[in-house]
Amino acid sequence: MKNKFATLRQAENLAEKSSRKGTFKWLQAAAEDGYTHKKNFDDLNKIKILPKQLAKIIRPNYSTNFFGSAISSPIILSPMGHQTQFHSLGEVEVAKGVEKSNTIGFFGTQGRMSLDDIRKKNKKTKIAWTIFPFGDKNWILKQIRSSEKNKCLAITICIDANIRSHRYLDRELLSYDARKYGKRTNEISPNPQLALKYDWELIRFIKKNTTLPVIVKGILTVEDAKSAIKSGADAIWISNHGGRMFNSGISSIEALIELKKKIKSTKFKIIVDGGVRRGSDIIKYLSLGADFVGIGRPAMYGLICGGHKGVEKIFEILKGELKTAMINGGFKNLTSFKKNRLKLDEVQK
Ligand SMILES: Cc1cc2nc3c(=O)[nH]c(=O)nc-3n(C[C@H](O)[C@H](O)[C@H](O)COP(=O)(O)O)c2cc1C
Repeated sequence: MKNKFATLRQAENLAEKSSRKGTFKWLQAAAEDGYTHKKNFDDLNKIKILPKQLAKIIRPNYSTNFFGSAISSPIILSPMGHQTQFHSLGEVEVAKGVEKSNTIGFFGTQGRMSLDDIRKKNKKTKIAWTIFPFGDKNWILKQIRSSEKNKCLAITICIDANIRSHRYLDRELLSYDARKYGKRTNEISPNPQLALKYDWELIRFIKKNTTLPVIVKGILTVEDAKSAIKSGADAIWISNHGGRMFNSGISSIEALIELKKKIKSTKFKIIVDGGVRRGSDIIKYLSLGADFVGIGRPAMYGLICGGHKGVEKIFEILKGELKTAMINGGFKNLTSFKKNRLKLDEVQK
């Protein structure tokens, strides 16, 4: 590996040192001054975990399955666009790291490498495809058929990226244009303007046209969660896009707490992401009722530091931290993660 690291924060530092300045700022950037991105971390820190001592936990079990497909842990890869900026093979390389980690990787229409190319080089990787609604329904149908042909395990529709947001961190560089760096084999989405014209009927349309599980990504309110479920979503993905799209101030943790308070049904799965950098962060999200926890930027730090080996290392570190935190916190398996093992008063103030 080009840059060896032992912690995620070390990977982040090394990735910054070995990246083009503009590229790294583009990766780190979030909407406006990045308040919402920061809040994901701040709210995770406000939550305390109540440990259970003398719990006789030797080998905690955190393996799980994603819609019937076994994965090594609930830690999954969130979709990220433009990955060939960070490594010449981008998504193809990341998918290799995902396979070695035995998890699921979300890739998508904003990516640089086509789904066919990712699959060609990664025959066995567990992949899901994410569609931005940047085309008409025929184009969306084409994405669905391609996902099915390429044996994706699910289709995600990302609903929180209507137009490009203002991100001070990359805007202030004036000249950086992500599209100029790194190769592309994925087609450019035909019409981003159409994202402004769709409503919840789009989810019903996707659901009607595939037998794959449908995931709606970018949910932050109870109202939108209910609309997604009513429209047929098999899973909702609580996310503020790592704070990149809308400086709303709602952290993923706040959204998850509220949602679990108001919606009691367990008929749908919950994925959450935003600010996961430590094993204890994962325990917090799982204890609040998430089934899967996504990581975004850290996977790119791993990619920059060491290609697929770097991506694999990121997952390995997080799983190692999850394991030790489970032993020290007294969590035997995934069913031990319960809200009553948390102290929430600071985040609920
Ligand atoms: C560089 C970058 C590109 C992203 N591109 C996409 C994308 O194409 N589709 C999508 O649904 N989310 C995208 N996201 C959001 C991630 O899926 C995820 O929600 C977020 O990164 C999680 O926060 P974290 O980076 O703190 O882990 C992107 C995030 C980053 C940092």
